[in-house]
Amino acid sequence: MTTPAQFVPASQFARSARSEEVVAKHKKYLWPSVTNYFQQPLVVDRGEMQHLWDLEGNKYLDFFGGILTVSVGHCNPKISSKVNAQVNRLQHTSTLYPNEHIVALAEKIAQITPGNLQQSFFTNSGTEANEAAILLARMATGSYDVVALRHAYSGGSAIAKAITAHAPYRKGGVISVGISHAVNPYCYRCPLHLKYPDCEVACADDVENLIQTGTSGNIAAFIAEPIQGVGGFITPPKEYFKIVFKIVKKYGALFIADEVQTGWGRTGKRWFGIEQWEVVPDMITGAKGMANGVPVGLTVTTPEIAGGFQGANIATFGGNPVTSVAARATIELIEEEHLLENADVVGTYFRGKLEELQSKYSLIGDVRGMGLMQALELVKDRKTKEPAPEAATQVMERTRQNGLLIGKGGLYGNTLRLAPMLNTTKPDVDEAIKLLDKSFSEVRD
Ligand SMILES: Cc1ncc(COP(=O)(O)O)c(C=O)c1O
Repeated sequence: MTTPAQFVPASQFARSARSEEVVAKHKKYLWPSVTNYFQQPLVVDRGEMQHLWDLEGNKYLDFFGGILTVSVGHCNPKISSKVNAQVNRLQHTSTLYPNEHIVALAEKIAQITPGNLQQSFFTNSGTEANEAAILLARMATGSYDVVALRHAYSGGSAIAKAITAHAPYRKGGVISVGISHAVNPYCYRCPLHLKYPDCEVACADDVENLIQTGTSGNIAAFIAEPIQGVGGFITPPKEYFKIVFKIVKKYGALFIADEVQTGWGRTGKRWFGIEQWEVVPDMITGAKGMANGVPVGLTVTTPEIAGGFQGANIATFGGNPVTSVAARATIELIEEEHLLENADVVGTYFRGKLEELQSKYSLIGDVRGMGLMQALELVKDRKTKEPAPEAATQVMERTRQNGLLIGKGGLYGNTLRLAPMLNTTKPDVDEAIKLLDKSFSEVRD
């Protein structure tokens, strides 16, 4: 097993004048808070299924899909042909007129969601989807308080930022009135310093304790990601959400599953991550992978809860014909090509290979996730679990140089996120593992 890594500067890329110009203009004309990966940002020129090419013509195997958003392949012709046809036929009418595409999408969603989640509200992003969910929960229950989890990421609006529990995303005076955070089920770094299964999932009890001590005692909703995405694919023990669901119901609240990362088959076998934990939520929010890169947000719930919305509600672009066509085409392709099964089979294969890498590199402290949503948490020392964010940055630089794109996350910036497309194959995984192995081997003391 190799020893823990230290930061080594990446070798420089030959950059074309075109990409130099893009990077310079990005710096000049975009907010600096919109950060890019890599010392020399990668300017992507085109994509085709599992691959991307930069402006210099270098080819990359994409194992992050624009943050779990390109779910069935870059510019997948089966999706883009339908999107193109719709752009040329009818692009926008607003929700003031019904159109056949929004209803066809909503009907499809009603067929694949668990329980009685039959009525959809469409927006343009995960942020808006969560915002709508909290607003509706407050109206439908008449309560105000909301319980979320530490290490959550919910989006960039005022409420979504208040649900988010990562300091870098909470700068600037987030108004958190009525939103409290329970400890999260982060077994690798248990907030209660216990060990599963002896812990008997004690972290779940914190939700009840928080309701009793940090809220009015009546909560509108509990909102959580079935696997915390930005948090670094933090995967709860299988009992966690079942216990929490009972608590949430005891206090008359709604259970909202934020499926922005975990939805649409990402975790394998099931459409939604929460189904892996055998919980039927009151609301699901979705975005990202739902339309293979076309901007979309979804809040789906029961007719009874949806009927609790007071006043009027509009999202100008929500459920736009083009978006609706893209989303339905994506969902139908996932069905037709049996990608829920593929995510399970190839995800299990991928996981096995990642565990083999873990036995080779002591830098890899934890391997976790489900289906095609797998993470490697990097540590300087497996005993102390001191996070290794510099090594994570360095591995990222190496993977990029070796032709593989992956993501990063976690509160400590030390978790590599691997989320290939749902139609990824075992040979793609073999290739990615080969490149990861090479990259880890190049990160040295
Ligand atoms: C779980 C989760 N919820 C909500 C959001 C916000 O989505 P968007 O960036 O589309 O607003 C994200 C984005 O990363 C997310 O990961």
